[in-house]
Amino acid sequence: MPAIEVRNLVKRFGSIVAVNGISLEIEYGEIFALLGPNGAGKTTTISILATLLKPTSGEAKINGYDVVKEAAKVRQSIGIVFQDPSLDDRLTARENLDIHGRLYHMSREERQRRIEEVLEMVELLDRADSIVKTFSGGMRRRLEIARGLMHKPKVLFLDEPTLGLDPQTRRHIWEYVEKLRDEGVTVLLTTHYMEEADYLADRIAIIDAGKIVAEGSPSELKDSVGGDIIKIKCSDAENMLKKLVSNGYDAMLVDDEIVIKAKEAEKMIPKIFAIADEEIKSITYKEPSLEDVFIHYTGKVFRDEEVDEIEASKMKWRMRR
Ligand SMILES: Nc1ncnc2c1ncn2[C@@H]1O[C@H](COP(=O)(O)OP(=O)(O)OP(=O)(O)O)[C@@H](O)[C@H]1O
Ligand SMILES: [Mg+2]
Repeated sequence: MPAIEVRNLVKRFGSIVAVNGISLEIEYGEIFALLGPNGAGKTTTISILATLLKPTSGEAKINGYDVVKEAAKVRQSIGIVFQDPSLDDRLTARENLDIHGRLYHMSREERQRRIEEVLEMVELLDRADSIVKTFSGGMRRRLEIARGLMHKPKVLFLDEPTLGLDPQTRRHIWEYVEKLRDEGVTVLLTTHYMEEADYLADRIAIIDAGKIVAEGSPSELKDSVGGDIIKIKCSDAENMLKKLVSNGYDAMLVDDEIVIKAKEAEKMIPKIFAIADEEIKSITYKEPSLEDVFIHYTGKVFRDEEVDEIEASKMKWRMRR
């Protein structure tokens, strides 16, 4: 039995179709990301799975329980971190967690023990008795994750866990999410940060306008758009090109650079060196990014403001000789 099973889920708000026939199967222990731009239907999907919204049609099961017919059982076995902050910032971290534990009918001893555990996990134990108002954005987010884990859910929903956080804090939160994998918690997260999905997720569903347009592991998705791109600068490009083509490489000359499409660049590069007598001045390669994947499947650019971040992550490997 999968941890999360979704069949043909549809949600309409009047004339808006927010979720338009989504199907998913997520196994226990997986970290699964719904990656998509603003308005794609990510929060709506998670809200249905967390029993906060009723689907217009289709069905979903969490831990084998139907989200409509067995909503109470679903709620008991999931944790959720909402896109919008939802802590009581007049209370301390410990008090916020304690209220949550009471809602889940945890005993006093259980609550005390678990509060220490979850705060330790997100490295906030030393701030347990500080008022949340004094916390930074990243600390609040960590506390919300701790709260989501308070009642030991098997499945945790994280709706945009690092929205608006600086890159360093974002990485910090990724570390906690990775720890959850080790503890066997199944995580369904939504994000519009491609880097986040790429780094964290075992599998990703790219969602656009209420539909899943592509699904797979980060590397499967990238492979599906057609391999890596290798670029070579060398002393005699014409001659090098002839040699590469006669050896069966998919190579062409662009300006003064040789551009080669490669299935796996890491494996191809040593072979290129082996056949080259020319002086190779530089070889670079880039993997297709999830941005390339998104463009490939939707024909649209993902989001302008993230371009710098994507560009920065593109040059994975550089070699000079
Ligand atoms: N309660 C509602 N009433 C009417 N329309 C809604 C409601 N909730 C969501 N929508 C619409 O459904 C679509 C999907 O919204 P949703 O919040 O699921 O997107 P999202 O992928 O989470 O976006 P974001 O990245 O901005 O959080 C949007 O067009 C939104 O305007
Ligand atoms: Mg959302």
